[in-house]
Amino acid sequence: MIGRFITLEGGEGTGKSTQARRLAKALEARKLKCLVTREPGGSPGAEEIRKLLVSGEPGRWDALTETLLIFAARADHVARTIGPALVEGRYVISDRFTDSTYAYQGVGRDMPRETIRRIESVVLDDFKPDMTLVLDLPVDVGLARARARAKGAASDETRFEKFDVKFHERLRQAFTDIAKRAPDRCTVIDASGTEDEVAEAIWTQVARRFALG
Ligand code: TMP
Repeated sequence: MIGRFITLEGGEGTGKSTQARRLAKALEARKLKCLVTREPGGSPGAEEIRKLLVSGEPGRWDALTETLLIFAARADHVARTIGPALVEGRYVISDRFTDSTYAYQGVGRDMPRETIRRIESVVLDDFKPDMTLVLDLPVDVGLARARARAKGAASDETRFEKFDVKFHERLRQAFTDIAKRAPDRCTVIDASGTEDEVAEAIWTQVARRFALG
C-alpha cells in the first residue's frame, strides 16, 4: 500500500507547523495513519544538518553549499523517514520540502533554478508531493509572529529571519509563482485568518483532493 505525501510551504511565521499537526489530527480522526515531519530535518542525520543551516549569521554559507546541505538532509529524510512511512500507507505531512529550496535558495539567494533542478533530479529522481499547501501571509505579519515565537522559546533558529525584508518579499512572491506553475499539485491558502479558519480551509482542500468526505 502506498500512502500520500502532503507538504506545507510558505514564508516565516505562516503557521505551517501548527497546521501540519491540525491536519494530522483531522486525518487521524478518520482513522487514517499519519506521520508529521519537517525540513530541514525529519531524520536523526537530517536534524544534525539542520543545526548547521538554521543557526548563525546569514552569510555563514555560500548559496551552493547551503543548497547541497539542504539536499543532503533531504536525501536522508526521504530514505529513512518519508519513504518507509509511505510504504506503510501513511499520510506523510511535511512542514517544508523542495519548493522551499526553489524559494529560499533559488529566488532568495539567487541560485539558478536549473542548478537546483539538476540537484533535485539526482537526489529525488521524479519524487514529488501529491499535494502542496502554500500558506500565504503578508511579510510583516509573518516575521512579527516568527520573532515573537523565537523570543518565547529562546530559540537560536533565527538565521533566515535575519535576512532583510526584501528577501522575505521575494520569498512570498516565489511561493505564489511556484503555486501558479504547478496548479495541479499546489493550492494557495490565505493564512491571515484564525488558526481554526486556516485549518478549516486546509481540510476542505485535502478532503476534496483525496475524496475523504
Ligand atoms: P522553519 O522555520 O519552517 O522550521 O524552516 C527552517 C528554515 O530553513 C527556514 O528559515 C527556511 C529554511 N529552508 C531553506 O532555506 N531551504 C529549504 O529547502 C528548507 C526546507 C528550509
